[in-house]
Amino acid sequence: MRVKRLDHIGIAVSDLAQAMEAYEALGLRVAAVEEVPSEAVKVALFPIGETRIELLEPSEKDSVIDRFLRKHGEGVHHVAFEVDSLEEASRALRAAGVRLVYDSPHSGEGGSRINFVHPTSTRGVLIELREGP
Ligand code: CO
Repeated sequence: MRVKRLDHIGIAVSDLAQAMEAYEALGLRVAAVEEVPSEAVKVALFPIGETRIELLEPSEKDSVIDRFLRKHGEGVHHVAFEVDSLEEASRALRAAGVRLVYDSPHSGEGGSRINFVHPTSTRGVLIELREGP
């Protein structure tokens, strides 16, 4: 597998509008706001050079991000690597005994396909693998 770049850093927030103001105050400009039903989140993306900040607000109670917020509060939730081929990366990782969160890819923001490497395989960091336009 080949990782092309650090695509984004995902940050869990309880109020997307307020969080967007805070990141705009840092000089960032929002490029897209989108619902991602498969992950039960609403996201806002702020480009920084080759990478992006992804703010994630839960859109359903007891969703993954809602539970994360209740347990840890707001903060960094995951980092996302862009890969050439999610299928190839998943195959290589499983062959190496690395645990993925989903059995098959989910739909991510911007028409991407995503999966996550389980944090037990990455020293406590949730890593999203993203193949996308
Ligand atoms: Co993400």
